[in-house]
Amino acid sequence: MRLKREKEAIILAHNYQRPEIQDVADFVGDSLELSLRAAQVDAKVIVFCGVNFMAETAAILNPEKKVLIPDPNALCPMASMLPADLIKLYKRKYPGVKIVLYINTLAEAKAYCDAVCTSANAAEVVNNIDSEVVLFGPDVNLAKYAQMKSNKKIIPIPRGGFCPVHKLFKKDDIIRLKELYPDAKAMAHPECDPEVWEVSDFVSSTSKMHRESLTSKARKFIVATEIGLLHRMKKDRKDAIFIPAYEEAICVNMRLHTLEKVYLCLRDEKYEIKLPEKVVLRAREPIEFMLQMR
Ligand code: 13P
Ligand code: SF4
Repeated sequence: MRLKREKEAIILAHNYQRPEIQDVADFVGDSLELSLRAAQVDAKVIVFCGVNFMAETAAILNPEKKVLIPDPNALCPMASMLPADLIKLYKRKYPGVKIVLYINTLAEAKAYCDAVCTSANAAEVVNNIDSEVVLFGPDVNLAKYAQMKSNKKIIPIPRGGFCPVHKLFKKDDIIRLKELYPDAKAMAHPECDPEVWEVSDFVSSTSKMHRESLTSKARKFIVATEIGLLHRMKKDRKDAIFIPAYEEAICVNMRLHTLEKVYLCLRDEKYEIKLPEKVVLRAREPIEFMLQMR
């Protein structure tokens, strides 16, 4: 892409992006990989094809670069379930208790936490934080998943945070598909309800599922996450069959970005992520806590 070279830009895309966007991106990955890549990027402009909290994280890690999002309406409903004011309330309710926030939160909320985590490292972050009791939000299912792998006491905040897309997966669908494809490996995202991961063979972030599909001996996979990931899986493992656990599991926010919007975003250098300096300074530390853990 000539325009990309002229602007000294790089395109980062989440695993749920439309196939044609994944195909033009310089890097495709999960939230953790995208944060790591954003921290190392050598470019003047970052075009971030993902939802706003992901682009915000890239902007926090690159205050001197221009971070653009092709469609500014790409918001994650789960991230909006834990506004900064609610965190301040929990801080008053549980004085001194450390707060770990899922990366799926707004920058303003991250500014009030002690560490950020992703679905790839939630338990690891909780185990590394200096506190025996941890407030964790906004995803209750990820809180339960981290609790399963930690001896610390995890208190979910708010009580009912969830992803509307991963709520669509049902235990009975996985059981039925496993009966239909007895040699298939069932993979689920931790944002699914616990009863879904309890009947699955592998539970982790989108990129870890992708990696598992490359290294596993299995040749059939039932996939319980947003269907965008299947494009990457099919592209990289041509001899395998990928079965969506529910084909209507589409994150409409992720799909707002189109190739045309990516082009216009680069051409007109819009829409730039702009955050108050105070928020950038305060949110950077908890994100770096996670990145330095590796
Ligand atoms: P991953 O970090 O696993 O890619 O998940 C991001 C997300 O929003 C899942 O819904
Ligand atoms: Fe948010 Fe769910 Fe979409 Fe992920 S799939 S961006 S958690 S709404």
